[in-house]
Amino acid sequence: MRELKAIVRAGVLLLAVTACLFSAETPPTVVILPQENALVHEVTLSVVLRVDTKAVDSVKILNAVGEKQLDINQSKSIYCKTVRLELGENTLHIRSYKEGALINEQMRHLYVTSPLYSQYKYPPTEYKRQFFHTDNNESTCRSCHDMSVNEQKGIAFIDVSESNCYACHHQLTKAKYAHAPSVNWLCTSCHNGKVGSDNAWQAGRSKFLVAKPVNSLCFGCHKKNAKLWKSYRFRHEPLDSGRCNKCHNSHASPYKMFVRKPVNSICLGCHKDKRMKVKQRDSDCEGTIKGKECVACHSPHASDKQFFLMSEEEKKRLESKQHERERR
Ligand code: HEC
Ligand code: HEC
Ligand code: HEC
Ligand code: HEC
Ligand code: HEC
Ligand code: HEC
Ligand code: HEC
Repeated sequence: MRELKAIVRAGVLLLAVTACLFSAETPPTVVILPQENALVHEVTLSVVLRVDTKAVDSVKILNAVGEKQLDINQSKSIYCKTVRLELGENTLHIRSYKEGALINEQMRHLYVTSPLYSQYKYPPTEYKRQFFHTDNNESTCRSCHDMSVNEQKGIAFIDVSESNCYACHHQLTKAKYAHAPSVNWLCTSCHNGKVGSDNAWQAGRSKFLVAKPVNSLCFGCHKKNAKLWKSYRFRHEPLDSGRCNKCHNSHASPYKMFVRKPVNSICLGCHKDKRMKVKQRDSDCEGTIKGKECVACHSPHASDKQFFLMSEEEKKRLESKQHERERR
């Protein structure tokens, strides 16, 4: 009996040793990016693989959103692909095949956080903010990609694909409503590498940091709005605390003014009691009763009227902006 146990133990040990040996060997496909347990803010992400082209003839990248197939050829070993993610937890499967047979599978776990969705606001602690744009990380890409900044302050690219950032980040602005500096690929007008009081801990971690809170950046270009809103008696808390990015995506989104969700869902995310079927006794607010947008009556930003009720001047200002947009 004791002998048998010893044999079994030896067998287990042998298995463990071989497993170790195998994992020490370089797998046929090395996942250079993304990093494991990365915490990200956007739903697009780069995947970069180094593939042993003798061992592998195709690679599939799968997640809950979709599937991408890479055909491997002998002439190149580095493969780059942009994938789409969903909010919250994501698992990427990177499967390598030879003649139809699966020979290797690797996984990456990622978390997309968003400030406006209570369920995605506080990611599980294993996910960590990681930064890509350091000299060291970029050195792997430099042989094929120009990593320098080639934008000129305030001058839009005539052909945006000429921006050095475009090759890797082109998916970022692909949504119905996009923000002018982003679609013109003037990325460093915000990503100037500086930090603010909300993200001081990030100092020096990446060349392209953006200062948080973001309002001073936004107001640097939106001077009229800054002046106007500052002059008003009542200002909305998320505006006053400078977190424009809570409601607006700085790049692009499927919704007007690139807000992160349809307007009413934005407001209801923080003002749950306004999802109403009948009028509340202590308030004249109509909430969702008649299916109007909250911004038909309230400014999301500021007003001289209490509860940021929209004044006639404010309505006129927005209308004339609307006309201006239509003329363009
Ligand atoms: C051996 C050359 C080579 C190296 C090294 C390389 N790339 Fe690429 N990359 C390319 C080419 C070529 C393309 C154009 C798209 C294509 O045909 O694959 C590309 C495209 C991309 C794309 C866009 C993919 C898409 O779906 O449109 C991303 C993102 C990217 N690279 C990121 C990186 C990063 C990050 C690194 C460094 C870690 C890197 N690449 C290193 C050659 C390279
Ligand atoms: C070779 C590909 C490549 C090029 C070129 C590139 N990036 Fe990136 N960038 C990445 C990857 C990979 C990440 C990591 C997150 C991801 O996959 O989207 C990243 C992340 C970022 C981030 C988040 C902060 C960080 O350091 O992780 C910013 C901001 C950014 N890039 C801006 C830019 C700007 C601005 C340019 C042009 C000057 C640029 N990138 C050019 C590949 C690239
Ligand atoms: C108006 C300011 C602004 C402009 C212009 C802008 N960004 Fe951003 N970007 C931000 C902010 C703010 C964030 C932080 C995430 C958030 O709060 O939305 C961000 C986040 C990112 C991220 C994601 C980092 C992460 O955490 O996953 C990437 C990548 C990025 N930006 C690249 C770019 C590129 C490339 C351009 C040019 C096409 C660009 N940005 C233009 C403000 C801007
Ligand atoms: C580099 C200059 C620049 C920066 C920085 C900037 N914007 Fe803009 N933004 C523009 C331009 C240009 C337009 C298009 C012209 C316009 O309508 O004002 C625009 C348009 C907008 C619009 C749509 C307005 C409309 O009436 O169509 C919104 C919303 C907006 N920006 C929000 C922001 C937020 C939020 C920030 C900060 C995260 C920001 N912007 C930072 C230049 C900038
Ligand atoms: C509480 C959410 C929220 C916050 C915070 C917020 N916005 Fe907005 N913003 C909106 C919504 C919603 C609209 C579109 C209103 C509509 O459809 O009439 C808008 C429209 C705009 C417009 C175009 C209309 C106008 O009034 O000129 C600009 C510019 C703008 N926002 C800039 C900013 C800037 C800059 C900040 C930060 C200082 C900011 N926003 C903060 C929700 C917000
Ligand atoms: C990120 C959270 C957040 C979002 C999103 C948000 N609000 Fe607010 N709102 C607040 C906070 C915080 C206050 C100030 C505390 C309070 O009085 O409830 C406030 C106050 C208000 C008030 C004044 C309440 C009072 O009693 O003085 C109104 C009106 C209002 N918000 C309307 C809106 C509308 C309309 C939207 C959508 C465009 C919106 N809010 C989106 C957080 C938010
Ligand atoms: C038809 C116009 C109208 C619409 C639509 C509307 N409101 Fe109101 N809201 C008001 C008025 C008027 C008040 C002031 C109530 C008072 O004086 O008693 C108010 C007050 C508020 C307040 C302050 C606290 C309170 O209950 O008095 C909040 C917060 C608020 N609204 C949020 C919202 C949100 C979120 C939406 C969209 C889901 C919305 N409102 C839609 C007219 C409207």
